[in-house]
Amino acid sequence: MSERKPFIAANWKMFKTVGEAVAFTEAIQKEVGPLVDREVILAPPFTALAAVRGLMRAEGYRLAAQNCHWEEKGAFTGEVSLPMLRDVGCDFVILGHSERRHVFGETDGDVARKVAAAIRHRIPPVLCVGEKLEEREDGRTAAVVERQLSSALAGLGPSDVGELVIAYEPVWAIGTGRTASPEQAQEVHASIRERCAAVFDKDIANRVRIVYGGSVKPDNVDALMAQPDIDGLLVGGASLELASFRRIVQFVKL
Ligand code: 13P
Repeated sequence: MSERKPFIAANWKMFKTVGEAVAFTEAIQKEVGPLVDREVILAPPFTALAAVRGLMRAEGYRLAAQNCHWEEKGAFTGEVSLPMLRDVGCDFVILGHSERRHVFGETDGDVARKVAAAIRHRIPPVLCVGEKLEEREDGRTAAVVERQLSSALAGLGPSDVGELVIAYEPVWAIGTGRTASPEQAQEVHASIRERCAAVFDKDIANRVRIVYGGSVKPDNVDALMAQPDIDGLLVGGASLELASFRRIVQFVKL
C-alpha cells in the first residue's frame, strides 16, 4: 500500500471577502490544530490568496488558487499568471473545474495548456474531470473521463507528475445535493488510477492522489473516505461554514 496523505480541499469559488477568508483561516487552525495524517487545502478567490497565506502557520495547511492563465505575462485583461500565483505562495492550482469548462467554455485544449504551464512553473495542478448527467445516463462516463485525462496529461512524462492531484467531480453532483455513491465514485477513481498507470507507470499511479468532489457533506464524508481509491475531497458548499468543513476535515477512518 502506498502512502497517500488525505487531501481535503475547500474550494470557496466566488465566496468570501478578505475579512471572511481571514476569519475562517484563523478559526480552522485554532479549532483543528496542526495536522500530520491529512492535509487541508484552502482555495480562496484570488483577492484573498495573500492574506490567507500570511495566516497559515499550523502544519498541514496549504494554499491553492482556483484557476490561472497559461502565459507568464501579457495583455490578457482579467487573467492571473502562474508566476503571480507563485509570488503569493500558492502550493496548488485547481484547473479544469467543471464551472470553468461548462460556465466559461474552457476546452480540453485550454485545460491541457494550463496543466503544462503549471507543471513548468512547479505549481502542482489539481486537475478536475467529470461527466455531465446526460453523459452518465448514456453510459459514457468512462469515455468522457478518459478523454479529459488523456488530453490534459498528453505530453507529460513520469518526471512531470510531482504532486499532481486529480479530482473526479461528476457535474451532476456539484452543488446539487446529489452525491455520487461511494461505490460509483470508487469505480471511476479506480479507472483513473489505471489510466495513470498506462500513461505513466504503476508506481506513479499508486502515488497520485485522486480526490472526489460533488456534494460532499458531513454525513457522507466517512463513507466516501472509506473507499480504497478515494484519497481526499474537493468540497464546495460545505467548506464555507466552519462547523461542516471542520467535520469533513476530521473524517473518521471506518
Ligand atoms: P459542492 O461541494 O458545492 O457540490 O461543490 C463541489 C465542487 O465543485 C468543488 O470543487
